Amino acid sequence: MPVLLDESASVQLIVGAQWGDEGKGKIVDLFGEKCDVVARFQGGPNAGHTVLFNGGKYILHQVPSGILRPHTVCLMGNGVVVNPESLLDEINGLEARGIDVVGRLFISPNAHLILPYHNLLDRAFEEETVGERIGTTGRGIGPAYADKANRIGIRIGMLFDPSGWESKVRQTVQAKNQILRRLYDTDGPSGEAVVSTLRRFLSKIGVCVADVGLKIREARASGKTILLEGAQGTMLDIDFGTYPYVTSSNTTIGGASTGLGMNPRIIDRVIGVVKAYTTRVGNGPFPTELNDETGEAIRTVGGEFGATTGRPRRCGWFDAVVARYAVELNGIDCLAMMKLDVLDRFDEIRICTAYRAGGQRLESFPAFCHVLDALEPEYITLPGWKIPTSGIRSYGDLPRNAAAYIEKIESLAGVPVRLLSVGADREATLWK
Ligand code: GDP
Ligand code: IMO
Ligand code: MG
Repeated sequence: MPVLLDESASVQLIVGAQWGDEGKGKIVDLFGEKCDVVARFQGGPNAGHTVLFNGGKYILHQVPSGILRPHTVCLMGNGVVVNPESLLDEINGLEARGIDVVGRLFISPNAHLILPYHNLLDRAFEEETVGERIGTTGRGIGPAYADKANRIGIRIGMLFDPSGWESKVRQTVQAKNQILRRLYDTDGPSGEAVVSTLRRFLSKIGVCVADVGLKIREARASGKTILLEGAQGTMLDIDFGTYPYVTSSNTTIGGASTGLGMNPRIIDRVIGVVKAYTTRVGNGPFPTELNDETGEAIRTVGGEFGATTGRPRRCGWFDAVVARYAVELNGIDCLAMMKLDVLDRFDEIRICTAYRAGGQRLESFPAFCHVLDALEPEYITLPGWKIPTSGIRSYGDLPRNAAAYIEKIESLAGVPVRLLSVGADREATLWK
């Protein structure tokens, strides 16, 4: 493996710079080789991070992707939301494939639980919505974060309260089930069933619950290297994304600090992950979307179907306005560009460099949501390279037009591309 981007960086953040599914899992796995600690700071089982190596495919939803590197310690911070049942399944699945988890994974007691009523409410909200739905993953993310903000959520730490937690859980479940019945004519599992799941969760994962902020501080003090694994992407950030078509957490750099209890000033380096084109799953504005055979070709060649829900992803050209926005917002130092191989077959490739809206030219991403639907992308067109890149392992061997495409994106985004991915496998990677 070539030298990493910066061997002296002790805390590195991997952040999605588009609408999620950029290929963060592969990058975290690659960087994980040289990192001691890998930490998730937001999101929950809405994430699906895919890693391929030695002929095996792993899709991580809640456990940090770093778990696939046996030497790492993995953390889930207070900013994540945890579904106890699916986390148990995920851990059991990893262990069945020979990957040790207990003893290497630590979860903050301040992380909130996603319980069955959250999933039911998520789906019920979506069905009840007048107008366009958000198209959530249905994993209970919004309702769980809403309970957190509303100060009625259940944190993992509560399960350790010596005065007991079962009756509080039973009461909460009962109250939520009443809402489900009255408003949505549906019912969730009983309080007793939820208590029994939580007991199973505690008996296996109880030993994993620990002060994650302290673990970060201790790791840093002892010179360990830390990798922060973002989930979703910049444009799905609850504040800075295409609201309301976003997820319910801060997916951007600030979320790393508040989601782990970590001093933001210790982040040495930020790596933004982009696809060589753009995808989005779920509804909402997507200026460069291609509703034609080019979009269909990208979806087919790129295998653009959700890792969590299997939904077809919407596909479009690379949007440099979005990339620049993500760079500025997150302080991205460099980009990892994924799935370059998917563009191998095209005669011409476009890059969006600005938008037009209401007779105006916009070079930066608009802050007013009502403008988003009316954005007309302005494109430049570059010649394709029409040569397979998936076997190439050195930047200098890339076709000239591919290098020109990458360099154009670097100049538009304002930061260098340091890593290129030309296939899903660990090995299909070039360092620039
Ligand atoms: P994440 O959520 O950001 O981790 O990304 P996902 O795992 O949801 O989606 C990325 C998909 O692209 C996965 O199926 C990866 O295996 C695949 N992938 C990653 N890098 C490449 C690449 O360079 N080329 C191709 N063809 N596939 C890739
Ligand atoms: P990773 O980490 C892509 C999208 C959903 C929906 C919106 C809100 O794999 O990149 P939610 O269930 O979070 O309330 O859904 O956000 N979404 C993602 N899209 N990748 C993800 O995660 C996503 N997680 C949520 O499709 O549009
Ligand atoms: Mg994904």
